[in-house]
Amino acid sequence: MEIAPFGLERWFDKYEHDADIMLAESGIRSLDASRFDLDPGKLGYVIPTNGDPDFRAEVATRYDRTADEVAFTCGTQEANFLAFLSLLGEVGEQGGGDAASIKRDSKSHAVVVTPTYQALHAVPEALGEVTRVPLEPPEWELDVDAVADAVRPDTAVVVLNNPNNPTGRYHPQETVQAVYDIAADAGAYLLCDEVYRLLAEDPLPPVASMGEYGISTTSLTKAYGLAGLRFGWVVGDEDVVDGALQWKDYTTISPSKIGQHVARQALGEQEDEILDENRDLASDHRERVQRFVDEHDLDWYDPVGVNGFVTVPDGFDDAREFCRGVVEEESVVLAPGDLFGHEEYFRIGFGLPTEELEDGLSRVSSFIERRA
Ligand SMILES: Cc1ncc(COP(=O)(O)O)c(C=O)c1O
Repeated sequence: MEIAPFGLERWFDKYEHDADIMLAESGIRSLDASRFDLDPGKLGYVIPTNGDPDFRAEVATRYDRTADEVAFTCGTQEANFLAFLSLLGEVGEQGGGDAASIKRDSKSHAVVVTPTYQALHAVPEALGEVTRVPLEPPEWELDVDAVADAVRPDTAVVVLNNPNNPTGRYHPQETVQAVYDIAADAGAYLLCDEVYRLLAEDPLPPVASMGEYGISTTSLTKAYGLAGLRFGWVVGDEDVVDGALQWKDYTTISPSKIGQHVARQALGEQEDEILDENRDLASDHRERVQRFVDEHDLDWYDPVGVNGFVTVPDGFDDAREFCRGVVEEESVVLAPGDLFGHEEYFRIGFGLPTEELEDGLSRVSSFIERRA
């Protein structure tokens, strides 16, 4: 099994520590911890280790599912990772010992809609075989027929990220339903990474609520501004969740105790206020970036969420040359689009505090004007 290096994280690691402004972060400005009660009592493991059953039951109602169809994880990253292991890896029979391993229906093929967050194709590629279905610029529309053509008898899962990182495309419900039907007809799951879903003005129903073949993964990282909490979940068929839990015993064992304690408050009485604030911020900042895009004759798909995929200005060979120039001369980090398979684009994250966004945009503008 071979896992590709995570290009985006390596790029960030190279530049973000020394740069003045991080204009490539895909999240929203972080909430202050003082907003929450931070005393969860004794800092033991969460028992049971898949998360507090009452809290899981509460989260499950958002998906028309039961508590046992939800597992709390360390962010969406772990939720996706465990779901892929459950769907594409092998799990031993419960009861332990050296029982023969069973592979779910011997299926190890995944269909992944790209461009997307690298983990969503790299992990399935490490575990099995992947057919990518490309979203094409400038609209990044999802071609449902291409998904149908890509699905095979050994397809275990179709993978979607909606709203999409990096393009900000939000595929409408008819498209998601059509993809769900294709997957379900083939006996495959539709896994949707919905980490940006609640930043939409009018969020679609989560995929796990669409039927037995729907799996949703998400966290409090983006829409709630709580990346450091490392709290997320996977929701789906008990079979899939059980497989995920079997792997989880080897990754993080239990969700973070403080994470669960704060998550309860963020999903409780504070939820509406947090989501309203963050949606307002995303909408105001999207307009600011739109003005920057227009000013420099660039192009982007008007995004949902806090990521935009913008065309590289004229005069640069590719996004890497542009982004390297911006960080070296202006100390602003952008993400080159080749990290998502599109060297003619760069990704901008606009969820940061307003002053930093404005400062970052004005520095990138100066750079573009200097080079014009
Ligand atoms: C689509 C997508 N999924 C998952 C993640 C990881 O998020 P989390 O902090 O919930 O693990 C990110 C972060 O950028 C993302 O964009």
